[in-house]
Amino acid sequence: FGDAALRGLKVVVSAGPTYEDIDPVRFIGNRSSGQMGFAIAEAAVQAGADVTLVAGPVSLPTPQGVTRRIDVRSAAQMRDAVVAASAQADIYIGAAAVGDYRPASVANQKIKKHDGAALVLHLAENPDILASLAAQTVRPFLVGFAAETHDVEQYARDKLQRKGLDMIAANQVGGGLGFEAADNALTLYWPEGVAELGRTSKTELAHQLVAKVAERYRAVRA
Ligand code: C5P
Repeated sequence: FGDAALRGLKVVVSAGPTYEDIDPVRFIGNRSSGQMGFAIAEAAVQAGADVTLVAGPVSLPTPQGVTRRIDVRSAAQMRDAVVAASAQADIYIGAAAVGDYRPASVANQKIKKHDGAALVLHLAENPDILASLAAQTVRPFLVGFAAETHDVEQYARDKLQRKGLDMIAANQVGGGLGFEAADNALTLYWPEGVAELGRTSKTELAHQLVAKVAERYRAVRA
């Protein structure tokens, strides 16, 4: 690799989970490891891009050559960081597993048990980062992910259209693929086409994904 397919372009990549605090010691999170997003950031660097990596809470080293890394915790913090970084960006790849909901209020003291009574947590919906970027008149080329347990193609195509994306990378979660796994397999959908990236390491998939993003970017923006 190193064909400089993204030379001169600014790319923002989000990666990892988000954590939504419940009280000072507890949070709601998810099983995203950040590996796929970090591999994409590395592949984009190798393709010649200037890369900003917005990372949720993960314990991964910054890939060599990434220009800046912004560490965030919650979906709201990730939205703010991504929106700021994307103002100058040509491409945004949203590989983060952004929490859909957060506790409507955060308790400032540790919540105590109450004699066997059920505890009800009220949740508020988080802002959709991709959709807010898609709503801007000047916007980067937008790539989303769809991790699904079933009906992968249908949900992916629906998300591509509903969120106004330029491309979506869909993967089936489970069976040793996806979250917390070293391997993955992706199907890329864009308005006029589809590409299957078969089961392989996340590093190799990231290179194939970046090559396809560069090709589609040049097709619609150059
Ligand atoms: O709808 P769903 O959460 O499955 O869509 C996944 C895609 O949307 C991912 O690319 C993810 O980064 C993005 N997303 C987002 N903001 C949210 C939720 C998801 O940008 N609040």
